[in-house]
Amino acid sequence: MHLKFVLLLGCLSLAKTSEQVRYDNYKLYTVQINDVKDQQLLSDNEKVLQLDTWHDARQPGEFSDIMLPPQYQEAFEALLNSHNLNYSIKIDNVQRLFDEQRPRQRLSSMEWTQYHTLDEIYAWLDLIEARYPHVVTPFNIGDSYEGRPIRGIKISYKPGNSAVFIESNIHAREWITSATITYFIDELLVPRNPAVRDIAQNVDWYIIPVLNVDGFVYSHDVERLWRKSRLPSDPTNKCIGTDLNRNFDYRWMQIGASADPCEQTYAGPYAESDPEISQLTSYINNSIPAGIIKIYISLHSYGQYVLSPWGHTAEEFPEHYPQMMAVAKGFADGIIRRNGTVFTYGSSATTLYEVSGSGKEWAYAVKNIIIPYTIEMPDKGKLGFVLPPEDIIPVARELTEGFVGMIQAARQIDIL
Ligand SMILES: *[C@@H]1O[C@H](CO)[C@@H](O)[C@H](O)[C@H]1NC(C)=O
Ligand SMILES: *[C@@H]1O[C@H](CO)[C@@H](O)[C@H](O)[C@H]1NC(C)=O
Ligand SMILES: *[C@@H]1O[C@H](CO)[C@@H](O)[C@H](O)[C@H]1NC(C)=O
Ligand SMILES: [Zn+2]
Repeated sequence: MHLKFVLLLGCLSLAKTSEQVRYDNYKLYTVQINDVKDQQLLSDNEKVLQLDTWHDARQPGEFSDIMLPPQYQEAFEALLNSHNLNYSIKIDNVQRLFDEQRPRQRLSSMEWTQYHTLDEIYAWLDLIEARYPHVVTPFNIGDSYEGRPIRGIKISYKPGNSAVFIESNIHAREWITSATITYFIDELLVPRNPAVRDIAQNVDWYIIPVLNVDGFVYSHDVERLWRKSRLPSDPTNKCIGTDLNRNFDYRWMQIGASADPCEQTYAGPYAESDPEISQLTSYINNSIPAGIIKIYISLHSYGQYVLSPWGHTAEEFPEHYPQMMAVAKGFADGIIRRNGTVFTYGSSATTLYEVSGSGKEWAYAVKNIIIPYTIEMPDKGKLGFVLPPEDIIPVARELTEGFVGMIQAARQIDIL
C-alpha cells in the first residue's frame, strides 16, 4: 500500500514535468503488401526508420498503415520505390490532426463536439448520477495502477432485466470509444426515439466508459498514441505497460500476444497481472448476479468490425457461433440502415487476426456469456486514431442504431 502510494506520487510528478510528445510533420503512409517479402522488408526496417505500424496488412494485396517521423521519410520512400511497393500518404501532418482532437475549453459537462479528458468524463458521470438517481447506479471496480478510480454506471429502469456489459477505451488511444459510449449513455437516459427507449427500459446496461484510465490520461498528457496500461513490469524498466486486452485469464499468451514488454501487444508478466483486469473480472464475478449478462462488448477502434470468438484459432468455431453471427448481423444492419456504413462480422481469427487473452474470449469461455464481441469502431483507416471531433456525433448515432439492431436480433433468438 505504502509503496504504491510513493510510486503514485513519483508517477504524477513525472507526468507533470514530462513534455508532451509531438508528431510535427509525421506522415501516415499506406503501403500495398504483395507478399511476405514485403512484410519482412518493413519489419526489418521498423527500428532504423522508426516505423510505427497503425495497421498491418493481413494478406497479399492489402495495405499496411505506417507512421514515421520527417527525418526518415525520404529514406522510407526510397526504400519503397526501390522495391516497387505501391504507397500513398494518408495523413500529411499527424500533429495537426492531434491538435484538432485536443479538448479546447474546459467543460464541466459533455457536448460531444470535442474529445474530453478523464476529469471531464468523471465530472459528467457525477452530474448524471445526481440527476437520474432512480435509473443510474454508479460503481467503481477499484483503482488503477496509478491510483485512479475506474468508474462505471449501471442503467436500469426496472428490476428483472437481462444485461449488456460494455467496457470501452481499454486501449488508451482509441478515444472515439469513450466519446461515443458516453453519448449512448445520454441516449439511454433521454431516449430520442421509441426504439432507443425500448432498449433503455427493457435491458440493464453496465458501462465502463474508460477502463484503461492511466493510459487514457497518458494519451492526453504525454503521448497521444499510447495504447497499453502504465504498469512497469519490464525488469530493465525500459518499456512500460501491458496490453490489457491480452491480459485476461483465458488462453493467456497462447497466440497473437507478445512476451516482450516493449511490444504493443505485451500480454503482461502473468494473466490478470494488471489491476484494471483483475478488478474487472472480480467485479463481474462478485457484483453482478451470475447469468444476468447476456452480451459482453469490448469497444475498440478502428476498422469497422464485429469480432467474436474464437481468437486463438481459425480452424474451429464456438458452439454458439450461429447465435453470435445472427446478433452481429443485427448490429451491422442497424448501422448500415442509418447512413450506409458497413461493418464486417465474423470470428477474430478468421476476420482480422489471431488473438488470445482478450476480454471477449474470457467472457465466453470462462463466464458463459454467449454473445461476446470486440467491436472496432470507424473508420476503416483513412484517419484511424485521429477521427476529427465532428465525427463523434455521427458515429455515436450509428452506434446507437447498431445497439438497437443488436438487441432486436438477440430477442429474435431468445437471448434476451
Ligand atoms: C500498383 O498499383 C497499380 C494501380 O493500382 C497496379 O496496377 C500495380 O499492379 C500495383 N503494383 C504493385 C507492385 O503492387
Ligand atoms: C471469476 O470466475 C471464474 C469462474 O466463473 C473463475 O474461473 C475466475 O478465477 C474468477 N476470477 C476472479 C478474479 O475472481
Ligand atoms: C453519411 O455518409 C456520407 C457518405 O459517406 C457522408 O458524406 C456523410 O457525412 C454521412 N452523414 C452522416 C450524418 O453521417
Ligand atoms: Zn483496441
